Amino acid sequence: MKNIAILSSGGDVSGMNPAIKEFVEYAFEKGLTPYFIYNGFEGLIDNKITKASHNDVAGIINRGGTILGSSRSKRFMDKSYREVAKKNLDALHIELLVVLGGDGSFRGMDIFYKEHGVKFCGIPSTIDNDINGTTYCLGVDTALNVIKESIDNIRDTASSFSRAFVIETMGRDCGYLALVSSLCSGAELCLIPEVKYDLRSYEESFKEQIKNGRKYFIVVVSEGIKDSSKDVAEWLEQKVGIEARVTVLGHTQRGGSPSIYDRLMAYKFINHAIDALLENINSSVICYTKNGFVYKNIDEVTSKKYMLDPELLSYIKKF
Ligand code: F6P
Repeated sequence: MKNIAILSSGGDVSGMNPAIKEFVEYAFEKGLTPYFIYNGFEGLIDNKITKASHNDVAGIINRGGTILGSSRSKRFMDKSYREVAKKNLDALHIELLVVLGGDGSFRGMDIFYKEHGVKFCGIPSTIDNDINGTTYCLGVDTALNVIKESIDNIRDTASSFSRAFVIETMGRDCGYLALVSSLCSGAELCLIPEVKYDLRSYEESFKEQIKNGRKYFIVVVSEGIKDSSKDVAEWLEQKVGIEARVTVLGHTQRGGSPSIYDRLMAYKFINHAIDALLENINSSVICYTKNGFVYKNIDEVTSKKYMLDPELLSYIKKF
C-alpha cells in the first residue's frame, strides 16, 4: 500500500475541506493510505504529519477554511529545510503529495520534486482566480457568493440613504473577483488593475445621472488598483457631489460554507489529482480549462501571469 499525503498552503479557501474529505475517501478507494500534513509546508518541516481516517473528515464538508491549517512558508524556500521535510516524509514512507495552493506553492513543490523526487499534483486553490492555465481555482465561487451577498446588502442601505458606496474586493493584482462581482451585482463602476482609468472621465456622466434622478452608486474596486478606496470615495464626494462610504470586504471573502460548485469542483480536482499520481504524472497541476480537466506542468502554470478572459473584460462599463 502506497502512502499519500495532502497539505494546504497559502491563503485558505472555502472548498479545501470538501477536498480534504474526498482526498481521504478516494485514497482509501484506490488502496492508498492517506496522511495529513498540518500547517502547510511549515508542518512538513516540523513533522506535523498524521495518518488520516474517515473519522477525521466526518462533518467537514460544509465548513469553510481548512481543517489542516495553512501557512505561507518562508523556510521551505531554504534547501536545508527541504532536506528536513524529505526526511520526515521518508520516515513515514510517503511518496505522493497533493498540494492545495497557489502558484508559489507549486513552484516550491517543483523544486522539491527535482531535488528529492517527491511526486506531487497541485490543485489550484485561491479566491483570486489568478493562476495561469486554469480558468477556475477552488474557492472562487464561494468568495463570489459572499461578495454578491454583501453588495446586495449594501445596495439596500445605499438606496435608502442616497449615498455612493465603494466596495473593495480582494484579488491582489488580479481584478477577477471585482469584475465578475460588479457585472453580477449591477455596479455602476468597476475599477481593476488590468484596466487603466481616469476618474475624471466619469464625472460628467455621474453628475448627469444624479440630475436625472439616480440616488446612489455602487462602485466595486479591486484591492490592487492605483488609488485607495478612500481616494475613490473622496472623489465621489468632492467631484461628483454625492456622500460616499467605503466597505472593505477583506477576509470575509475567504470564509463561509463552500458553495455547491466548490464542493463539486473539490471532488473532481481531488479525483484527477490522485489519478495523476497513480498514472505516474509526477509533477503537475490539475487545471480546469474549456476542454475540461487537463494536467499541466509547473513551467506552463508558473511562467506566465494570469490574464483575464478578454470576453469578460469587454463587458466592463465604459462611460
Ligand atoms: O491570495 C489570497 C488573498 O486573500 C488575497 O486576495 C489577499 O491579497 C491576500 O490573500 C491576503 O493575505 P493575508 O491573508 O495574508 O492577509
